[in-house]
Amino acid sequence: MSVLVTGGAGYIGSHTVAELVSHGEQVVVVDNLTTGHREAVLDGVPFYDCDIRESEQMRKIIRQHEVDSVIHFAANSLVGESVQNPLKYYENNVGATTRLLSVMVETGVKRIVFSSTAAVYGEPERMPIDERDRKTPTNPYGETKLAIEKMMDWSYEAYGLQSVRLRYFNAAGAHPDLPIGEDHNPETHLIPIILQTALGQREQVSIFGSDYPTEDGTCVRDYIHVMDLASAHRLAVERLRSGQVTAESYNLGNGNGFSVQTVIEVARKVTEIAIPAEKADRRAGDPAVLVASSNEAKRALNWNPQFDDLETMVATAWKWHKSHPAGYAGN
Ligand code: UFG
Repeated sequence: MSVLVTGGAGYIGSHTVAELVSHGEQVVVVDNLTTGHREAVLDGVPFYDCDIRESEQMRKIIRQHEVDSVIHFAANSLVGESVQNPLKYYENNVGATTRLLSVMVETGVKRIVFSSTAAVYGEPERMPIDERDRKTPTNPYGETKLAIEKMMDWSYEAYGLQSVRLRYFNAAGAHPDLPIGEDHNPETHLIPIILQTALGQREQVSIFGSDYPTEDGTCVRDYIHVMDLASAHRLAVERLRSGQVTAESYNLGNGNGFSVQTVIEVARKVTEIAIPAEKADRRAGDPAVLVASSNEAKRALNWNPQFDDLETMVATAWKWHKSHPAGYAGN
């Protein structure tokens, strides 16, 4: 019995693989390495450089490794790019997942944990955001993730395919012990950009917007440690195996919002470097505040985040960036 992790060479995928292995799970990773890193997958874990659209190869892998559950991360995930090139997102996210689910139905694998996003909510109607709140994505990335959630609802009705969809807020941090962390190209996320500035790789951090209706005028986000995301995926597989699941969605966040300005200040404290930052224009499409209610995930999955203070998130990320200033390319 093993867990197939698609996109297991990516940021959240690789941390989830490490979490599963440390809990004695048999794991097999499929990743086409478009954005993933081979070095991010632990030694000894079976790895296939394969696109999830290669159905023939996917059927073989599932049978050979006696896969009983899938955790599906493989996707494109840049909001800005999705606005520029929506068809790429429909093809690589919705199209590829359709093929994956078809192979699962054919091979009799009935459990899937899906990497969803806060972007399914769009501009939120209230704070903190509850799973039942209005879902009106404001970009194709969020639309494709929501379309996949709906495809999974119907696949439960038709084929009995059970799914747990995890809607992450802002993933942050790195593994506290293993040499894995965040490495995107291009990097668009706040914390890595701040730490690259601390390393002297960027001149300054641009603060996108300082006139939002928040305490200090900068955007507020709910940062959640990647190790806590990883444990939620492992617990979701356990829940699926318990047989109680139909098609469920859970928010994964901390319930605490931190402003861009606060994150920069925490990073200055952690790194002991006076990271230069400058006010800049708002970035299109950014809601002022995004904070999750994760009570449902805590209740249903028995999830108990362990790395929930911002300093720990920034400190673990800093350890990774300092030791891998060029990311995996420097290995
Ligand atoms: N920010 C800056 N300067 C930067 C980079 C980011 O001020 O150089 C700000 C952004 O404007 C935002 C905050 O920092 O207010 C966080 O930005 P990120 O890009 O790190 O994260 P987002 O909140 O934009 O994105 C996250 C996930 C996406 C998801 C989105 C849902 O990374 O996958 O939430 O809205 F789609």
